[in-house]
Amino acid sequence: MAEDSSYLWWKNGVIYQIYPRSFQDSNGDGIGDLAGVIQRLDYLTATLGVDAIWLSPFYPSPMADFGYDVSDYTGVDVMFGDLAVFDRLVALAHQRNLQVIIDFVPNHTSDQHPWFIESRQSRSNPKRDWFVWRSPKPDGSLPNNWLSNFGGPAWEFDEKTGQYYLHSFLKEQPDLNWRNPDVKAAMFDAIRFWLKRGVDGFRLDVAHFIMKDPDLRDNPPNLHPEKVVFKNMGDYDSLVHLYDKGHPDVHAVFRELRRILDEYSLERPRFSVGEIHVFDWEKWCSYYGENLDELHMPFNFSLIGQPWNLGAMRRVVDSLEGALPAGAWPNHVLGNHDEPRLGSRYGAENIRLAAMLLLTLRGTPTIYYGEEIGMLNVKIPVEKEQDPWGKRVPGLGRDPNRTPMQWDAGPNAGFSSADEETLWLPLAPDYSKVNVHSELADPRSVLNLYRRLLQFRKHTPALNAGSYRSLDGLPEDSFVFVRQSGAEKILVVLNSANEPLHCCITLPGTGRVAVSTGLNREGELVSLAGLVVDAKEGLIIEVNQVL
Ligand code: GLC
Ligand code: CA
Repeated sequence: MAEDSSYLWWKNGVIYQIYPRSFQDSNGDGIGDLAGVIQRLDYLTATLGVDAIWLSPFYPSPMADFGYDVSDYTGVDVMFGDLAVFDRLVALAHQRNLQVIIDFVPNHTSDQHPWFIESRQSRSNPKRDWFVWRSPKPDGSLPNNWLSNFGGPAWEFDEKTGQYYLHSFLKEQPDLNWRNPDVKAAMFDAIRFWLKRGVDGFRLDVAHFIMKDPDLRDNPPNLHPEKVVFKNMGDYDSLVHLYDKGHPDVHAVFRELRRILDEYSLERPRFSVGEIHVFDWEKWCSYYGENLDELHMPFNFSLIGQPWNLGAMRRVVDSLEGALPAGAWPNHVLGNHDEPRLGSRYGAENIRLAAMLLLTLRGTPTIYYGEEIGMLNVKIPVEKEQDPWGKRVPGLGRDPNRTPMQWDAGPNAGFSSADEETLWLPLAPDYSKVNVHSELADPRSVLNLYRRLLQFRKHTPALNAGSYRSLDGLPEDSFVFVRQSGAEKILVVLNSANEPLHCCITLPGTGRVAVSTGLNREGELVSLAGLVVDAKEGLIIEVNQVL
């Protein structure tokens, strides 16, 4: 129960990701801002009932990568507001028992950050070593073969000082040198700055990138670039990324960070989650720390890499459950500001099943804004394209999944009072139907399904804290599992087939439907052995007998 003292928001609760540029514009400039988030706090708490928000970056930034290029770690870009608005947001969120997680970008600054401006002044500048500078090889070529995640080499030549600097992303995002103790101290000071302002947690952008091979050795060629582990990354896939990220020295940094968070947790729990795209469980688990003394969690992106196949998804979840160290808390991510919308990835007909899957698995779920109303990717005309990645590598752009939140059927979907032409990204064409206002009025809408799932999860310890066990012998396009806490047993049955699933569970006992994806079977009494689950239907069943 939410009132129970054993309910810990980042474990038992649900995180909601806000991309501030696209959530709510309060001053009519066509770009969402922090005062806009304040206007929507009631939606987050009273309407949805999520436990925490994660705000994508709002720091001062030239916006080369829309805020993931930070020019001041302890400020708020005027576009989003100022520190006073931020403080107000935190205070009002806390009044509603909503926790605030901010995005922290440790791997790189903006090339306009004063640290980098100084660093590039001369080879002897005191901040020179705050970034990764290397001379060209004797033949004038690049220091090594490392590639940028956004295409092309990871090195940019600086005429003035005759050296290259490293950038794992855009050339406007120079990588910090975390092996320099002054860099670490300055970044930890920034963390303390926000902890003192009351933030409850940090999402650490590309967390494991901060430590690279100290000798900057060449990455080996990838002999099987066709075997995409997660998603197609263009020329970045031509190498095995052995040396340019995730060096084991990163663990000592995370242990130090955890000590800072633990200090502030004496007051109330503080939290860290790392964006860590690693798909080898042993390596991935290592980020919890050998003694669970590093990150509270690395984000688990393993389901995003799967096609829409419930059997395959079950195998991934089971393998995670098998690999987790004792005491480590799992989590699942289906979407975020870097990935296509669920309905565009899985098909609009599977949105409800995906929602039920995300909100019934063991571990903390993260919902990306707009998924709860079933927003889809929006086709962006070339002249409106914003994302630097998409501009560099056509097809990899993330604008389609970052369009303005659809609040109502009015002008600009209630997102902004600007001229439509001024909106930073265009609106979805379906906004007059797919929006919060109309979905609240429709008892069986996707939004009402999310609300029901969130509410039921919050008040059902078997779901927000209980054990997990999947059941065998079912068709490949289904996924059936039991969640249990004490005497409370919940059966989740997901059927993605185009036909009903008959008598699928050879279990004695009866149950009562607590939630169905169609929101049309609640309260129905069912026998487990005779259960019929409709095509594309999911059921959460409160079970009356031992399973
Ligand atoms: C992370 C962010 C992404 C950003 C990149 C560079 O992957 O999620 O949006 O572009 O880091 O900071
Ligand atoms: Ca604005």
